[in-house]
Parts: sequence; C-alpha cells; structure tokens
Amino acid sequence: MEVVIRKDESSVAALVADAVDRLARAKPDAVLGVATGDTPIPLYRELARRVDAGAIDLSRFRVVMLDEYLGLPAHHDQLYRRFVEQEVIGPLGIDPDRLYGPDSTARGEQVDRAALHYDTLLTRLGVDLQILGIGSDGHIGFNEPMSSLASRTRIKTLTEQTRRDNSRFFHGDLARVPTHVLTQGIGTILDASHVVLVATGVGKAAAVAAAVEGPVTARVPASALQLHRHVTVAVDEDGASELRYVDYYRHTYDNKPDWQGL
Ligand code: F6R
Repeated sequence: MEVVIRKDESSVAALVADAVDRLARAKPDAVLGVATGDTPIPLYRELARRVDAGAIDLSRFRVVMLDEYLGLPAHHDQLYRRFVEQEVIGPLGIDPDRLYGPDSTARGEQVDRAALHYDTLLTRLGVDLQILGIGSDGHIGFNEPMSSLASRTRIKTLTEQTRRDNSRFFHGDLARVPTHVLTQGIGTILDASHVVLVATGVGKAAAVAAAVEGPVTARVPASALQLHRHVTVAVDEDGASELRYVDYYRHTYDNKPDWQGL
C-alpha cells in the first residue's frame, strides 16, 4: 500500500484529482468507481473546477457506484444515486446514461438477482480506479466489520450505529433510515485495477492506522486492501496522526519518480 500524506483536505483532493486526470488522458473512457459521503466531496469539486476550466475532459468516463440503499422510493432525495448525479455526473459533464449502480428498487427475491446483476456488470466493465472513503470502524462501502473479505455485491443489514450516523440525512428520524443496502463486496472492490482510499480528519485516524498497519482482519474491512496490488491511501495530517511509519511514507513519496503517478 502506498500512503501519501498531504497537508490538508484540499491538497488530498488535488493529489487524487491529478490521478483521475492522468487516467482520463491515458484512457478517456475509463471506468471510475465513486464513493458517496463527505470525504470525497472536495475531490469531486476539484475535478468539477478543472472540467469547468477546460483543463480536463471526463465526459467519456463511465461511473460506477459503490453502494445504494434499498427500500426507498425510486425518486427519494437520499438515494446515493442522487448524490452521485449531483456531485459527480452533472458537475463533471458526464451523460447520466454512463452512470451504473445497484437497482435500489429491487424487492424481495429480486434483491439477490439485482446484486448478482450489478456484480457481473462490474466484472464486465472492469473498474479502472475506485475511490473509497472509510468508516470510523474501518468499513468500506457498506461492508461493516465481520463482512467476508471475499464478499461480492450483496444485500447487507446496516448496523444500528450506521443508521444512527446516517439519520442526519433523514431529518434525524431513525425510523426513516433504511435497514438494508446493496453494496459492492470486499472481493468486488479488490477487483478494481487501482483503489484510492481517501481519509481526512482526526476521526478517521484510528481506522486508517488499523487498515494500513494492523493485521488483515474482517474486524477492519479496509485492512483487506493490504492484499491488493495497487492501493493508494491518500490522507491529510490529521488522518495520518495515528500511523506509525509516517517517516517511511513521506520518504518514499518524496523520492518517487514523477512518471510513476499514484
Ligand atoms: C460511501 C460509503 C461509505 C463511506 C464511509 C465514510 O459510498 O460507502 O463507506 O465512504 O462511511 O463516509 P464519510 O466520508 O461521510 O465519512
């Protein structure tokens, strides 16, 4: 795993935007996997800024979602698809037809079929770059602690803690927060060619340290990324504050040849 420590959230965003830019130049129709949540917003805004300035063209990208709620009406404003449309698809000038995600309208027995369908689609498309956030308990996507490290896209039951955390988006009303989601599995995420985990703020420091320097364990789903051949962990100083080998990470990155990119 390569750990890159930048001063603050905006320098992390610029670093990852450079990697997206590089990908777009090498492969204009690349498949970009996007996370929702607060962490990647500065990255998406930085990319939008570059698109507006005419510095990059991402219009041919295909965008794939990491996870989605089940049980909400098709046009609900808290569907993750809405977030991706508003923060990624619109601002980056990508045709909405190029956005793929799990079918949030699946019910009952259709749910397993919808999960398999999305997983198969991801395998067919092949994700070039997957952006991830991390939960303070080490989750990635909606793979909570004790998720199988080999899991594929499937239905998951949200923990009470995650539902409470997310109730802020549902007028603080826990009862309105869905109990189930469809999420890329950990094994599915590991199929991406390049995974970039973005973590900023002191609230993520313990999870980052456990994921990067702890044992590979289902207790910390993000630790499975240690098994991937190309992972970049992009953190700010606060997010890096519990890492032990910071001098090594800084030294390695400072001496990295420019041509290598992330
Ligand atoms: C988002 C997702 C989650 C978040 C994680 C961190 O699609 O799957 O794993 O990345 O919960 O969320 P934030 O960035 O809001 O702290």
